[in-house]
Amino acid sequence: MRAARARAHANIAIAKYWGKADEAANLPAVPSVSVTLEELTTTTTVQFDDSIAMDQLLLDGEATEGKALRRVVALLDRVRERSALSLRARVESSNDFPTASGLASSASAFAALAMAATAAAGLETDPSYVSDLARRSSASAARSVLGGFVRLASAAPGAARLAAEQLAPADHWDLRVVIAVNAEGPKPVGSTDGMLHTQKTSPYYASWVALCPRIAHAVQQAIASRDIAALGQAAEQSAMAMHASAMAAEPSVLYFEPATIACLRTVHELRRGGVAAYATMDAGPHVKVFTLPDFVDEVASRIRATPGVLRTLVSKVGGPATVTLLAEAG
Ligand code: DP6
Repeated sequence: MRAARARAHANIAIAKYWGKADEAANLPAVPSVSVTLEELTTTTTVQFDDSIAMDQLLLDGEATEGKALRRVVALLDRVRERSALSLRARVESSNDFPTASGLASSASAFAALAMAATAAAGLETDPSYVSDLARRSSASAARSVLGGFVRLASAAPGAARLAAEQLAPADHWDLRVVIAVNAEGPKPVGSTDGMLHTQKTSPYYASWVALCPRIAHAVQQAIASRDIAALGQAAEQSAMAMHASAMAAEPSVLYFEPATIACLRTVHELRRGGVAAYATMDAGPHVKVFTLPDFVDEVASRIRATPGVLRTLVSKVGGPATVTLLAEAG
């Protein structure tokens, strides 16, 4: 029996990934840059076990089958192939944030799974290998392996591998993220489907792809010089351009709810009052606000008081995925 337990944090893209250069190989069409979120963590245990005939998945204590299990099996198969291991695995995964909030992140989930499965199979947990492995399941997960401030480049169709790279560790800059939870339950259109549909039908998709390298570059410069205004401006443009391309799809992919717009208004008001606050939105109605330690309490209380916001979470910058070996080969 071989087992390992890994922990990985969720991440928020400051420059967004939205679009694939190669659907089968899951290669992104655009570069993305993210910040790792210390407060949102997935813990996953993988145990290769000769007493079971099929891979098993327990998500927050519930036996899970269907699409979620198939995505897990696909990752385990890649690890088995590389390590020449044929044992099936028991996978147990839980989030320390409410899964039903719609914040449940494939990024932290596949980063933790990739790390735990690699270690449990007796392979070297080289971050570049683990990031590439996680990216094949979910491209944003490649970034959660590294920690701190992370970049995932775009790739040409058919590229053999693509791993994320760390731009700066978590202690480089004490950025804070206030998350407005604006709905409960899973999102109506997942990010994979939303981006593929945008790519196939939106007249604005090509302009989006053309814009992304410039935005990713601006975000990298802003991180290097710890410039919140430059980071925020680029982050807002990335989010709004991504959502504009999705909204122009046929039929439209619309993730915003009234509370999303209300939060954007609150962020604009905060800025008019001299507070450093900049917003981003992923494939859902929640709003994530980038700010600094001096402003975080005010931002959190103003966001919490915004109509339609159910609750808020506040996070610091988190570190890389970590793993512990629980049992060696018997
Ligand atoms: C809007 O990484 O979930 O959060 O590779 O198809 O699994 P797949 O997509 P996923 O997309 C994330 C999209 C996003 C922006 C981002 O995180 O960069």
